[in-house]
Amino acid sequence: MFTERVVSGMRPTGALHLGHFHGALKNWVRLQSEHPCLFFVADWHALTTHYDTPGVIGDNVWEMVIDWLAAGIDPQQSTLFIQSRVPEHAELHLLLSMCTPLGWLERVPTYKDQQDKLSDRDLSTYGFLGYPLLQAADILMYRAAWVPVGEDQVPHVEFTRELARRFNHLFGREPGFEDKAREAVRKLGSRRARLYRELRTRYQEQGDEAALQQGRELLELAQNLSMGDRERLFGYLEGSRKIILAEPQSLLTPASRMPGIDGQKMSKSYGNAIAMREDPESVSAKIRTMPTDPARVRRADPGEPARCPVWPLHQVYSGEDTLEWVQAGCRSAGIGCLECKQPLIDAVLAEQQVFRERAQPYLDDPSLLRNIVADGCDQARKIAQETMREVREAMGLAYA
Ligand code: TRP
Ligand code: SF4
Repeated sequence: MFTERVVSGMRPTGALHLGHFHGALKNWVRLQSEHPCLFFVADWHALTTHYDTPGVIGDNVWEMVIDWLAAGIDPQQSTLFIQSRVPEHAELHLLLSMCTPLGWLERVPTYKDQQDKLSDRDLSTYGFLGYPLLQAADILMYRAAWVPVGEDQVPHVEFTRELARRFNHLFGREPGFEDKAREAVRKLGSRRARLYRELRTRYQEQGDEAALQQGRELLELAQNLSMGDRERLFGYLEGSRKIILAEPQSLLTPASRMPGIDGQKMSKSYGNAIAMREDPESVSAKIRTMPTDPARVRRADPGEPARCPVWPLHQVYSGEDTLEWVQAGCRSAGIGCLECKQPLIDAVLAEQQVFRERAQPYLDDPSLLRNIVADGCDQARKIAQETMREVREAMGLAYA
Protein backbone atom coordinates (compact mmCIF):
# COMPACT_ATOMS: atom_id res chain seq x y z
CA MET A 1 0.00 0.00 0.00
CA PHE A 2 1.50 3.33 -1.09
CA THR A 3 0.56 6.44 0.81
CA GLU A 4 0.37 8.57 -2.32
CA ARG A 5 -3.15 9.82 -2.70
CA VAL A 6 -5.28 9.34 -5.81
CA VAL A 7 -8.06 11.80 -6.67
CA SER A 8 -10.49 11.70 -9.55
CA GLY A 9 -13.91 13.05 -10.39
CA MET A 10 -16.69 12.49 -12.88
CA ARG A 11 -19.40 14.84 -13.99
CA PRO A 12 -22.86 13.48 -13.13
CA THR A 13 -24.12 12.34 -16.52
CA GLY A 14 -26.63 9.82 -15.15
CA ALA A 15 -26.51 6.06 -15.64
CA LEU A 16 -23.06 4.96 -16.81
CA HIS A 17 -22.46 2.56 -19.68
CA LEU A 18 -20.12 -0.34 -20.36
CA GLY A 19 -17.58 2.03 -21.88
CA HIS A 20 -17.31 3.87 -18.55
CA PHE A 21 -16.89 0.55 -16.79
CA HIS A 22 -14.17 -0.83 -19.06
CA GLY A 23 -12.46 2.59 -19.15
CA ALA A 24 -12.42 4.64 -15.99
CA LEU A 25 -14.22 2.53 -13.39
CA LYS A 26 -12.24 -0.70 -13.73
CA ASN A 27 -9.15 1.41 -13.29
CA TRP A 28 -10.55 3.06 -10.14
CA VAL A 29 -11.42 -0.34 -8.70
CA ARG A 30 -7.84 -1.50 -9.22
CA LEU A 31 -6.37 1.67 -7.72
CA GLN A 32 -8.44 1.58 -4.55
CA SER A 33 -6.54 -1.44 -3.24
CA GLU A 34 -3.17 0.18 -3.98
CA HIS A 35 -3.62 3.79 -2.84
CA PRO A 36 -5.81 5.91 -0.61
CA CYS A 37 -8.39 7.06 -3.16
CA LEU A 38 -10.91 9.88 -3.24
CA PHE A 39 -13.57 9.76 -5.95
CA PHE A 40 -16.10 12.52 -6.25
CA VAL A 41 -19.07 13.71 -8.25
CA ALA A 42 -18.13 16.95 -10.01
CA ASP A 43 -21.58 18.52 -9.84
CA TRP A 44 -20.30 22.09 -10.07
CA HIS A 45 -18.44 21.12 -13.21
CA ALA A 46 -21.73 19.90 -14.65
CA LEU A 47 -23.19 23.34 -14.04
CA THR A 48 -20.41 25.07 -15.99
CA THR A 49 -21.90 23.68 -19.19
CA HIS A 50 -25.47 22.86 -18.15
CA TYR A 51 -26.39 25.78 -15.90
CA ASP A 52 -29.68 26.10 -17.78
CA THR A 53 -30.93 22.59 -16.86
CA PRO A 54 -30.20 22.31 -13.13
CA GLY A 55 -33.16 20.02 -12.47
CA VAL A 56 -31.49 16.85 -13.69
CA ILE A 57 -28.35 17.04 -11.56
CA GLY A 58 -29.77 15.37 -8.45
CA ASP A 59 -31.02 12.21 -10.17
CA ASN A 60 -27.85 11.94 -12.21
CA VAL A 61 -25.66 12.14 -9.13
CA TRP A 62 -27.29 9.24 -7.31
CA GLU A 63 -27.61 7.06 -10.42
CA MET A 64 -23.93 7.53 -11.06
CA VAL A 65 -22.79 6.77 -7.52
CA ILE A 66 -24.85 3.56 -7.61
CA ASP A 67 -23.01 2.62 -10.78
CA TRP A 68 -19.67 3.25 -9.08
CA LEU A 69 -20.68 0.87 -6.31
CA ALA A 70 -22.05 -1.60 -8.86
CA ALA A 71 -18.68 -1.57 -10.58
CA GLY A 72 -16.99 -2.61 -7.37
CA ILE A 73 -15.89 0.66 -5.82
CA ASP A 74 -15.73 -0.21 -2.15
CA PRO A 75 -16.66 2.55 0.29
CA GLN A 76 -14.50 0.83 2.94
CA GLN A 77 -11.46 1.44 0.77
CA SER A 78 -12.33 4.59 -1.17
CA THR A 79 -13.71 7.93 -0.07
CA LEU A 80 -16.77 8.87 -2.15
CA PHE A 81 -18.08 12.40 -2.01
CA ILE A 82 -19.85 15.21 -3.81
CA GLN A 83 -17.88 18.30 -4.80
CA SER A 84 -20.53 20.86 -3.84
CA ARG A 85 -20.82 19.34 -0.35
CA VAL A 86 -17.20 20.20 0.34
CA PRO A 87 -17.52 23.95 -0.11
CA GLU A 88 -13.78 24.36 0.55
CA HIS A 89 -13.39 23.55 -3.16
CA ALA A 90 -15.09 26.86 -3.96
CA GLU A 91 -12.86 28.76 -1.58
CA LEU A 92 -9.70 27.25 -3.03
CA HIS A 93 -10.97 27.97 -6.53
CA LEU A 94 -11.46 31.60 -5.53
CA LEU A 95 -8.10 31.98 -3.82
CA LEU A 96 -6.26 30.31 -6.70
CA SER A 97 -8.06 32.62 -9.12
CA MET A 98 -6.13 35.53 -7.60
CA CYS A 99 -2.88 34.25 -9.06
CA THR A 100 -4.10 32.46 -12.19
CA PRO A 101 -3.06 34.28 -15.36
CA LEU A 102 -6.04 34.65 -17.71
CA GLY A 103 -3.89 33.55 -20.63
CA TRP A 104 -3.25 30.17 -19.00
CA LEU A 105 -7.00 29.50 -18.91
CA GLU A 106 -7.63 30.77 -22.41
CA ARG A 107 -4.87 28.53 -23.73
CA VAL A 108 -6.18 25.26 -22.24
CA PRO A 109 -7.13 23.31 -25.40
CA THR A 110 -10.50 22.09 -24.07
CA TYR A 111 -11.68 25.70 -23.71
CA LYS A 112 -12.04 26.44 -27.42
CA ASP A 113 -12.69 22.79 -28.36
CA GLN A 114 -15.68 22.45 -26.08
CA GLN A 115 -17.06 25.85 -27.03
CA ASP A 116 -17.01 24.72 -30.66
CA LYS A 117 -18.36 21.27 -29.90
CA LEU A 118 -21.20 22.48 -27.67
CA SER A 119 -22.04 25.35 -30.00
CA ASP A 120 -25.74 25.11 -29.10
CA ARG A 121 -24.89 26.52 -25.65
CA ASP A 122 -23.60 29.89 -24.62
CA LEU A 123 -20.29 29.04 -22.99
CA SER A 124 -18.83 32.52 -23.00
CA THR A 125 -19.14 32.52 -19.23
CA TYR A 126 -16.76 33.13 -16.38
CA GLY A 127 -17.61 29.72 -14.90
CA PHE A 128 -16.75 27.85 -18.07
CA LEU A 129 -13.44 29.66 -18.51
CA GLY A 130 -12.68 28.63 -14.93
CA TYR A 131 -13.45 24.94 -15.51
CA PRO A 132 -9.80 23.84 -15.37
CA LEU A 133 -9.18 26.05 -12.35
CA LEU A 134 -12.01 24.40 -10.44
CA GLN A 135 -10.52 21.05 -11.43
CA ALA A 136 -7.11 22.21 -10.18
CA ALA A 137 -8.72 23.12 -6.84
CA ASP A 138 -10.29 19.61 -6.69
CA ILE A 139 -6.89 18.03 -7.11
CA LEU A 140 -4.66 20.36 -5.11
CA MET A 141 -7.05 20.30 -2.15
CA TYR A 142 -6.06 16.68 -1.42
CA ARG A 143 -2.38 17.01 -2.35
CA ALA A 144 -2.99 14.20 -4.79
CA ALA A 145 0.03 12.46 -6.26
CA TRP A 146 -1.96 10.75 -9.01
CA VAL A 147 -4.98 11.71 -11.05
CA PRO A 148 -6.44 8.91 -13.17
CA VAL A 149 -7.93 10.55 -16.25
CA GLY A 150 -8.54 9.99 -19.93
CA GLU A 151 -6.30 11.56 -22.53
CA ASP A 152 -8.59 14.57 -23.00
CA GLN A 153 -8.02 15.61 -19.38
CA VAL A 154 -4.22 15.51 -19.40
CA PRO A 155 -3.93 19.25 -20.23
CA HIS A 156 -6.01 20.00 -17.13
CA VAL A 157 -3.61 18.07 -14.92
CA GLU A 158 -0.66 19.82 -16.58
CA PHE A 159 -2.37 23.16 -15.88
CA THR A 160 -2.80 22.06 -12.25
CA ARG A 161 0.92 21.31 -11.96
CA GLU A 162 1.88 24.72 -13.31
CA LEU A 163 -0.52 26.42 -10.97
CA ALA A 164 0.85 24.53 -7.95
CA ARG A 165 4.37 25.57 -8.90
CA ARG A 166 3.31 29.19 -9.26
CA PHE A 167 1.44 29.14 -5.98
CA ASN A 168 4.39 27.69 -4.07
CA HIS A 169 6.70 30.19 -5.68
CA LEU A 170 4.49 33.12 -4.70
CA PHE A 171 3.33 32.01 -1.28
CA GLY A 172 5.83 29.44 -0.09
CA ARG A 173 8.19 32.13 1.20
CA GLU A 174 8.33 32.07 4.93
CA PRO A 175 10.32 34.25 7.33
CA GLY A 176 13.07 32.18 8.93
CA PHE A 177 12.45 29.34 6.47
CA GLU A 178 16.01 28.00 6.48
CA ASP A 179 16.20 27.81 10.26
CA LYS A 180 12.82 26.16 10.54
CA ALA A 181 13.75 23.68 7.83
CA ARG A 182 17.04 22.77 9.53
CA GLU A 183 15.16 22.30 12.79
CA ALA A 184 12.66 20.04 11.02
CA VAL A 185 15.50 17.95 9.56
CA ARG A 186 16.70 17.21 13.08
CA LYS A 187 13.24 15.95 13.95
CA LEU A 188 13.70 13.16 11.42
CA GLY A 189 16.09 11.43 13.81
CA SER A 190 19.82 11.24 13.27
CA ARG A 191 19.96 8.42 10.74
CA ARG A 192 17.21 9.72 8.49
CA ALA A 193 18.39 13.30 8.93
CA ARG A 194 21.84 12.32 7.64
CA LEU A 195 20.32 10.55 4.62
CA TYR A 196 18.00 13.50 3.92
CA ARG A 197 20.91 15.98 3.93
CA GLU A 198 22.91 13.72 1.65
CA LEU A 199 20.04 13.34 -0.84
CA ARG A 200 19.36 17.07 -0.77
CA THR A 201 22.98 17.87 -1.58
CA ARG A 202 23.04 15.29 -4.35
CA TYR A 203 19.93 16.80 -5.93
CA GLN A 204 20.89 20.43 -5.51
CA GLU A 205 24.53 20.11 -6.51
CA GLN A 206 24.27 17.45 -9.19
CA GLY A 207 20.61 17.63 -10.25
CA ASP A 208 20.28 13.95 -9.32
CA GLU A 209 16.56 13.23 -9.91
CA ALA A 210 16.76 9.81 -8.28
CA ALA A 211 18.02 11.44 -5.09
CA LEU A 212 15.09 13.86 -5.20
CA GLN A 213 12.68 10.97 -5.58
CA GLN A 214 14.33 9.03 -2.76
CA GLY A 215 14.17 12.12 -0.56
CA ARG A 216 10.44 12.47 -1.21
CA GLU A 217 9.89 8.83 -0.35
CA LEU A 218 11.80 9.28 2.88
CA LEU A 219 9.46 12.14 3.79
CA GLU A 220 6.37 10.17 2.79
CA LEU A 221 7.36 7.56 5.34
CA ALA A 222 8.28 9.97 8.13
CA GLN A 223 5.07 9.74 10.14
CA ASN A 224 6.10 11.88 13.09
CA LEU A 225 6.29 15.19 11.17
CA SER A 226 3.71 17.93 11.49
CA MET A 227 2.06 19.12 8.28
CA GLY A 228 4.06 22.35 8.39
CA ASP A 229 7.40 20.60 8.84
CA ARG A 230 6.57 18.14 6.10
CA GLU A 231 5.88 20.97 3.66
CA ARG A 232 9.08 22.70 4.69
CA LEU A 233 11.11 19.58 4.14
CA PHE A 234 9.56 18.88 0.74
CA GLY A 235 10.37 22.45 -0.25
CA TYR A 236 13.83 22.47 1.35
CA LEU A 237 14.74 19.35 -0.60
CA GLU A 238 14.29 21.27 -3.85
CA GLY A 239 15.16 24.82 -2.90
CA SER A 240 14.30 27.35 -0.29
CA ARG A 241 10.52 27.53 -0.37
CA LYS A 242 7.72 25.67 1.30
CA ILE A 243 5.74 23.31 -0.91
CA ILE A 244 2.20 24.08 0.12
CA LEU A 245 0.41 22.55 -2.84
CA ALA A 246 1.80 19.31 -4.28
CA GLU A 247 2.21 18.81 -8.01
CA PRO A 248 0.05 15.91 -9.18
CA GLN A 249 0.70 13.61 -12.12
CA SER A 250 -1.81 12.18 -14.56
CA LEU A 251 -2.30 8.47 -14.50
CA LEU A 252 -3.49 7.88 -18.02
CA THR A 253 -6.47 5.52 -18.13
CA PRO A 254 -5.73 2.86 -20.75
CA ALA A 255 -8.08 3.71 -23.62
CA SER A 256 -10.99 1.32 -23.59
CA ARG A 257 -11.46 -0.35 -26.96
CA MET A 258 -15.12 -0.59 -26.16
CA PRO A 259 -17.18 0.16 -29.26
CA GLY A 260 -20.88 0.91 -29.15
CA ILE A 261 -23.53 -1.18 -30.92
CA ASP A 262 -22.82 0.63 -34.19
CA GLY A 263 -19.05 0.10 -34.11
CA GLN A 264 -18.25 3.73 -33.18
CA LYS A 265 -16.82 4.54 -29.76
CA MET A 266 -19.46 3.89 -27.10
CA SER A 267 -20.96 7.18 -26.03
CA LYS A 268 -24.28 8.27 -24.62
CA SER A 269 -24.46 11.12 -27.10
CA TYR A 270 -24.12 8.76 -30.08
CA GLY A 271 -27.07 6.70 -28.83
CA ASN A 272 -25.00 3.51 -29.23
CA ALA A 273 -24.42 2.67 -25.57
CA ILE A 274 -25.36 -0.25 -23.36
CA ALA A 275 -25.98 0.92 -19.80
CA MET A 276 -24.22 -0.92 -16.98
CA ARG A 277 -27.53 -1.99 -15.50
CA GLU A 278 -29.66 -2.14 -18.64
CA ASP A 279 -32.32 -4.82 -18.56
CA PRO A 280 -31.27 -8.15 -20.10
CA GLU A 281 -33.95 -8.24 -22.84
CA SER A 282 -32.90 -4.87 -24.13
CA VAL A 283 -29.21 -5.84 -24.06
CA SER A 284 -29.83 -9.09 -25.97
CA ALA A 285 -31.93 -7.27 -28.54
CA LYS A 286 -29.29 -4.58 -29.04
CA ILE A 287 -26.50 -7.08 -29.61
CA ARG A 288 -28.61 -9.37 -31.78
CA THR A 289 -29.40 -6.50 -34.13
CA MET A 290 -25.85 -5.16 -34.30
CA PRO A 291 -24.48 -4.79 -37.82
CA THR A 292 -21.82 -7.34 -38.81
CA ASP A 293 -19.30 -7.70 -41.63
CA PRO A 294 -21.29 -6.49 -44.67
CA ALA A 295 -19.68 -9.28 -46.72
CA ARG A 296 -21.83 -11.83 -44.91
CA VAL A 297 -25.02 -11.21 -46.84
CA ARG A 298 -26.06 -14.85 -46.74
CA ARG A 299 -25.32 -17.39 -44.04
CA ALA A 300 -22.98 -19.22 -46.44
CA ASP A 301 -20.86 -16.12 -47.19
CA PRO A 302 -17.56 -16.11 -45.28
CA GLY A 303 -16.65 -12.99 -43.30
CA GLU A 304 -13.71 -11.30 -41.64
CA PRO A 305 -13.86 -10.37 -37.92
CA ALA A 306 -11.55 -7.40 -38.49
CA ARG A 307 -14.35 -5.80 -40.51
CA CYS A 308 -17.08 -6.56 -37.98
CA PRO A 309 -18.14 -4.27 -35.08
CA VAL A 310 -19.00 -7.35 -33.01
CA TRP A 311 -15.38 -8.49 -32.97
CA PRO A 312 -13.94 -5.77 -30.72
CA LEU A 313 -16.67 -6.55 -28.21
CA HIS A 314 -15.64 -10.20 -28.30
CA GLN A 315 -12.09 -9.06 -27.62
CA VAL A 316 -13.26 -7.37 -24.45
CA TYR A 317 -15.52 -10.16 -23.26
CA SER A 318 -14.35 -13.51 -24.66
CA GLY A 319 -11.53 -15.87 -23.77
CA GLU A 320 -8.94 -17.30 -26.15
CA ASP A 321 -11.02 -20.35 -27.10
CA THR A 322 -14.06 -18.34 -28.05
CA LEU A 323 -11.96 -15.84 -29.97
CA GLU A 324 -10.46 -18.66 -32.03
CA TRP A 325 -13.88 -20.20 -32.57
CA VAL A 326 -15.18 -16.83 -33.83
CA GLN A 327 -12.29 -16.26 -36.22
CA ALA A 328 -12.35 -19.74 -37.69
CA GLY A 329 -16.14 -19.93 -37.85
CA CYS A 330 -16.52 -16.49 -39.40
CA ARG A 331 -13.87 -16.99 -42.08
CA SER A 332 -15.20 -20.41 -43.07
CA ALA A 333 -18.86 -19.46 -42.71
CA GLY A 334 -19.00 -22.34 -40.27
CA ILE A 335 -21.04 -20.27 -37.84
CA GLY A 336 -23.79 -17.74 -38.38
CA CYS A 337 -23.68 -14.24 -36.95
CA LEU A 338 -26.40 -14.87 -34.39
CA GLU A 339 -24.56 -17.96 -33.25
CA CYS A 340 -21.38 -15.89 -33.00
CA LYS A 341 -23.10 -13.24 -30.91
CA GLN A 342 -24.58 -15.64 -28.36
CA PRO A 343 -21.46 -16.18 -26.18
CA LEU A 344 -20.95 -12.42 -26.22
CA ILE A 345 -24.51 -11.80 -25.06
CA ASP A 346 -24.03 -14.39 -22.32
CA ALA A 347 -20.79 -12.76 -21.14
CA VAL A 348 -22.26 -9.25 -21.05
CA LEU A 349 -25.32 -10.45 -19.16
CA ALA A 350 -23.16 -12.32 -16.65
CA GLU A 351 -21.12 -9.19 -16.01
CA GLN A 352 -24.25 -7.07 -15.63
CA GLN A 353 -25.79 -9.59 -13.26
CA VAL A 354 -22.96 -8.80 -10.83
CA PHE A 355 -23.58 -5.06 -11.26
CA ARG A 356 -27.27 -5.51 -10.54
CA GLU A 357 -26.58 -7.56 -7.43
CA ARG A 358 -24.19 -4.97 -6.05
CA ALA A 359 -26.62 -2.13 -6.80
CA GLN A 360 -29.73 -3.77 -5.32
CA PRO A 361 -29.18 -2.93 -1.64
CA TYR A 362 -28.86 0.76 -2.51
CA LEU A 363 -32.00 0.70 -4.62
CA ASP A 364 -33.89 -1.03 -1.81
CA ASP A 365 -32.62 1.40 0.81
CA PRO A 366 -31.42 4.74 -0.55
CA SER A 367 -30.38 5.84 2.94
CA LEU A 368 -27.44 3.40 2.69
CA LEU A 369 -26.20 5.35 -0.29
CA ARG A 370 -26.81 8.72 1.35
CA ASN A 371 -24.83 7.59 4.41
CA ILE A 372 -21.85 6.41 2.39
CA VAL A 373 -21.67 9.73 0.62
CA ALA A 374 -22.25 11.74 3.81
CA ASP A 375 -19.36 9.88 5.48
CA GLY A 376 -17.21 10.45 2.42
CA CYS A 377 -17.99 14.16 2.46
CA ASP A 378 -16.97 14.33 6.14
CA GLN A 379 -13.68 12.56 5.45
CA ALA A 380 -12.94 14.75 2.46
CA ARG A 381 -13.77 17.90 4.41
CA LYS A 382 -11.30 16.99 7.15
CA ILE A 383 -8.46 16.93 4.64
CA ALA A 384 -9.83 19.98 2.84
CA GLN A 385 -9.98 22.03 6.03
CA GLU A 386 -6.37 21.20 6.80
CA THR A 387 -5.26 22.31 3.36
CA MET A 388 -7.33 25.48 3.53
CA ARG A 389 -5.76 26.42 6.85
CA GLU A 390 -2.34 26.31 5.23
CA VAL A 391 -3.50 28.11 2.10
CA ARG A 392 -5.19 30.92 4.03
CA GLU A 393 -2.14 31.36 6.19
CA ALA A 394 0.18 31.44 3.19
CA MET A 395 -2.01 34.05 1.52
CA GLY A 396 -2.06 36.32 4.52
CA LEU A 397 -5.62 35.60 5.61
CA ALA A 398 -4.89 34.10 9.01
CA TYR A 399 -4.67 37.46 10.74
CA ALA A 400 -6.33 38.11 14.06
N1 TRP B 1 -13.11 17.31 -15.91
C1 TRP B 1 -13.23 15.92 -15.58
C2 TRP B 1 -13.94 15.18 -16.71
O1 TRP B 1 -14.68 15.79 -17.45
C3 TRP B 1 -13.96 15.71 -14.29
C4 TRP B 1 -13.21 16.25 -13.12
C5 TRP B 1 -13.53 17.34 -12.37
C6 TRP B 1 -12.00 15.73 -12.58
N2 TRP B 1 -12.61 17.53 -11.40
C7 TRP B 1 -11.66 16.56 -11.49
C8 TRP B 1 -11.20 14.63 -12.92
C9 TRP B 1 -10.50 16.34 -10.73
C10 TRP B 1 -10.05 14.42 -12.16
C11 TRP B 1 -9.71 15.26 -11.08
O2 TRP B 1 -13.77 14.00 -16.85
FE1 SF4 C 1 -19.08 -10.63 -37.05
FE2 SF4 C 1 -19.21 -12.97 -35.81
FE3 SF4 C 1 -20.73 -12.49 -37.98
FE4 SF4 C 1 -18.11 -12.79 -38.23
S1 SF4 C 1 -19.57 -14.33 -37.53
S2 SF4 C 1 -19.36 -11.21 -39.18
S3 SF4 C 1 -17.36 -11.84 -36.33
S4 SF4 C 1 -20.86 -11.46 -36.00
